[in-house]
Amino acid sequence: MRKKILITGGAGFIGSHVVRLFVNKYPDYDIVNLDALTYAGNLENLSDIDRKPNYSFVKIDITNEAAINELFKNTIFDGVIHLAAESHVDRSIKDPLAFIRTNIIGTVNLLNAARSQWEGNYTGKRFYHISTDEVYGSLGKEGMFVETTPYDPRSPYSASKASSDHLVRAYYHTYGLPVVISNCSNNYGANQFPEKLIPLAINNIKHRKPIPIYGKGENIRDWLWVNDHARAIDVIYHQAAVGETYNIGGINEWTNIDLIRTLCEIMDRKLGRSAGESAQLITFVADRAGHDLRYAIDSSKLQRDLGWQPSLQFSEGLEKTVDWYLEDEQWLAHVTSGDYQKYYEKQYENV
Ligand code: NAD
Ligand code: DAU
Repeated sequence: MRKKILITGGAGFIGSHVVRLFVNKYPDYDIVNLDALTYAGNLENLSDIDRKPNYSFVKIDITNEAAINELFKNTIFDGVIHLAAESHVDRSIKDPLAFIRTNIIGTVNLLNAARSQWEGNYTGKRFYHISTDEVYGSLGKEGMFVETTPYDPRSPYSASKASSDHLVRAYYHTYGLPVVISNCSNNYGANQFPEKLIPLAINNIKHRKPIPIYGKGENIRDWLWVNDHARAIDVIYHQAAVGETYNIGGINEWTNIDLIRTLCEIMDRKLGRSAGESAQLITFVADRAGHDLRYAIDSSKLQRDLGWQPSLQFSEGLEKTVDWYLEDEQWLAHVTSGDYQKYYEKQYENV
């Protein structure tokens, strides 16, 4: 019997890498990509695999309960890998309700549909919820997030993700739904929408526009190559015990300012600019409201239990990422046309 797996948010940044990995690696699985194609969803991300016989796409908004129920009425799934979400912290500060609708209500619609389709016969079934390290809150200079760190979300985005994590666990404890959760640190790589720090900076450096750095640039993030996140999702989907949680991260902490200076050096070299030219674009701007100081993920449980390791050093991953954005100029041009300009002008009006 072929397996049928529903991947939600597969037209987005991380989801498209997960869909590609599963479609290529498992020709005997049928992969159904469900996505509402919001501003962040882009089917161009999958143009290299979208004709494969084991891939199909459905355009559905997960907040639409009737549409989700209809899908689950017509198609039997062996598993769900749930990535669809509103994912950008700055947008959550401006419009929290959109995050409540998609990240909380949308997740509950999927949990209900899976529960009612599987009707207590959970053999071979799995609901895998993709979450974030931001649910754990903000660290000081010391320590790392482990799987048992108490939740302390501080932005509307992370609060909505924390809420969805709690609901997923509630469905496990209350109904026995076979769930798995992972919480990952900041991803970077190809196909990331240029509202996020790294692709936004690459795009601005390319066009000699100011690079906005919030506050003093001292906030710390723990960066992981998106392909390594996709590999971790593969391993966890197939090997994790039901009810388990795994942290995923690269042990790769950078202050924003050091990261952007390194990126400027790479861009100077790739664009044939003189040393230090791109760094002159760095512009300190008003801080993000409630800006979490530091994230750092301890992923030793995943490394120890399931044998996953990040495959790339950050320096190599950043080079590859810059190469991708410079080579695939059309992708950036497409996603930065239209609504992106309006978003950018509103978010960075004084820059
Ligand atoms: P993204 O914003 O690039 O993609 C989100 C995708 O979800 C898009 O394709 C969008 O069209 C789709 N979507 C949004 N609302 C929807 C709705 N109502 N119905 C159906 N589809 C909808 O996000 P991403 O960065 O790829 O993140 C994917 C998941 O991984 C999210 O759950 C996010 O919380 C989590 N995550 C992201 C990071 C990161 O660094 N980007 C790190 C850890 C966890
Ligand atoms: O930690 C995982 C999370 O990482 C994911 O759950 C989120 O979906 C993802 O967006 C990301 O959240 P961040 O808020 O950390 O990512 P972002 O790229 O928005 O910002 C990274 C850091 O850079 C953060 O400290 C804010 C800062 N920043 C960001 C932007 C967009 C700037 O200084 N200037 C900017 O213009």
